Amino acid sequence: MTDCSNLSDKIDWQAQAVVQSARLHPYIPGKPIEQLLREKGISTAVKLASNENPYGVPPKAVAAMQKAATQAHRYPDGNCSKLRKALATFHQVNENTLVLGNGSNEVLELIIRTFAGAGDDVVFSQRGFIVYALAAQAAGANPVAVAEADGLTHDLQAMAAAVNECTKLVCIANPNNPTGTMHDTASLQAFLDQLPRQVIVLLDEAYYEFVSDILGDTVHVLQHPGLIISRTFSKAYGLAGLRLGYAVMAPEIASLVNRFREPFNVNLLAQEAALAALDDQSWVMQHVQLMNEQRAVLEKALQQRGVLGGVSCGNFVLLKHEAAKELTEWLESRGVIPRPLAPYGMPDVLRISVGLDSENEVFLKTLDAFLVAVAA
Ligand SMILES: Cc1ncc(COP(=O)(O)O)c(C=O)c1O
Repeated sequence: MTDCSNLSDKIDWQAQAVVQSARLHPYIPGKPIEQLLREKGISTAVKLASNENPYGVPPKAVAAMQKAATQAHRYPDGNCSKLRKALATFHQVNENTLVLGNGSNEVLELIIRTFAGAGDDVVFSQRGFIVYALAAQAAGANPVAVAEADGLTHDLQAMAAAVNECTKLVCIANPNNPTGTMHDTASLQAFLDQLPRQVIVLLDEAYYEFVSDILGDTVHVLQHPGLIISRTFSKAYGLAGLRLGYAVMAPEIASLVNRFREPFNVNLLAQEAALAALDDQSWVMQHVQLMNEQRAVLEKALQQRGVLGGVSCGNFVLLKHEAAKELTEWLESRGVIPRPLAPYGMPDVLRISVGLDSENEVFLKTLDAFLVAVAA
């Protein structure tokens, strides 16, 4: 076999890259289970690092994928026609208001690339979802991070004040990942009312289903000409591995965003599975309820141990401990994968996704052993 490992030794690839990509930091995802098993030489692990649905894939989505698998030699429908129609009916909107993507992540990036470039400002909360900063930088725009008033909650007043004539986009995750905080629709509308009409507001509702009873039908309630609301099939719908998300926006905006989209950006199995999952709302809401209940159990347990890092509205909790780095190592060595929030400027906080009851128990037991060890 030819060894290609030193072919690029003498090339300065950083100098070859366009300036902004050389400055970027890659997104750090939750550690995959297989990687941890390899690294630690252990045989089982519990992943509580990526806010997935621990209850698995909706059975109807599995059946739909099995049926569609034999058609995988064909390109998928590039317009996602059936799913688009179903989503339009689900949201009571026109089909031309929807942009679908390979995860809502792709949709967010497409939107930022469509509207922000050199000299433009993209405003977001300092501890907002990290992809806004990365995508703004990748687009060559100027990322404007606004500090949270309490360290966790988007400061909507300060964000509105940060908007100026250079601002093209404001990004808000509601509820936010990783801080778990949220604003109600009245505060969001009051915020929208302060903005110039042409500013695009990207309202990222990846965790919407966990608080839909509080927020109501944001797609129809919130009003702003440049409002874009994104949702995902990765969390409540249990389809993270398929990568499917979408956003609702004015048709004129959707038509622009769609020009940046790759021809077949949503794969066949994802389209079929999402269609089936969307149609099985009782599965989705039943498991959302279970996750919300388990979140309350976990938060109570963390509070009792004096390590609760904040109250969360998503399918995850926050753990605060001064030795969070050591705790991460302790948990991982014993087969529990948390998400350290050091990249968000919170070196003493870990984000723990809500798992199955049995997984949450393993996590709490391992945490207890750590707390006993550091107290000794
Ligand atoms: C707030 C928020 N937005 C968007 C995403 C992207 O999700 P996906 O690309 O899986 O739809 C995530 C993923 O964790 C998230 O937490």
